[in-house]
Amino acid sequence: NLPSLYFDDGDDFIVIAHRGASAYYPENTMAAFEGAVAMDAEMIELDVLMSKDGVPVVFHDLALDDHTNGNGYIPQYTVEKLKKLDAGSWFDKKFADQRIPTLEEVLQFASGKIALNIEIKTEAVSDQVEGGVEQKSLELVKQYGMEKHVLFSSFDYRAVEHLKQLDPEVSVALLYNKHQSQRQLPHQQVGKFSADAFNCSFRQFSKKWSRNLKKHGIPHFIYTVNSKRKMKKLIKAGVSGIFTNKPDLLHRVKDNL
Ligand code: G3P
Repeated sequence: NLPSLYFDDGDDFIVIAHRGASAYYPENTMAAFEGAVAMDAEMIELDVLMSKDGVPVVFHDLALDDHTNGNGYIPQYTVEKLKKLDAGSWFDKKFADQRIPTLEEVLQFASGKIALNIEIKTEAVSDQVEGGVEQKSLELVKQYGMEKHVLFSSFDYRAVEHLKQLDPEVSVALLYNKHQSQRQLPHQQVGKFSADAFNCSFRQFSKKWSRNLKKHGIPHFIYTVNSKRKMKKLIKAGVSGIFTNKPDLLHRVKDNL
């Protein structure tokens, strides 16, 4: 059960823009997401945390300091306050108008246009199945008719369980986390959570795991790969997709193999 793509360039490999086209635009901003669409990415990966007033917002770090002109932590601020921050100048002054997007804004933008990988950040995961970031995000996804075009993922497997309990039809990937893997092979980890895919760093991905995932027909997406050499190697190994900050480069590498 994988998301269907709006734009499919005809093979079974997915070009995923990591935090948008984040080599060229400030990560996790509308500019980076628009850039990803312009570069024909087939999916955008983004990170979700919760504001103080319980709104899913798109931002990677818990701390605001590195990627905005604010300080402190995301859950200390209401969405109204977060919206006042400049989320682009740290990258380049010309992006000073970029704001932290809400998940709702990104869904509105992506609907009818591009598939999403919504990573639920560990810091936001709820203790309960209902009422937390998982349920709120899923409801928004459905509100924008994106349920067939979204792959959820999390390093925290409680989020995977919650999402599958809320809706067994929703696509969810396990993000490989050595503390929760119990030294099992990928197909065992995925099976345990009835997950639909396995997402993993290129640093941990091995030939043994590649064989295991292919043998069991489990889609596997590898992050974050920005060099031509590594892209070529992984595409040749038959991975299902690559997360990259440079979707334009990944397309070029793939087309010239
Ligand atoms: O979701 C894939 C990848 O982005 C996970 O790593 O650290 O960027 O959340 P991180």
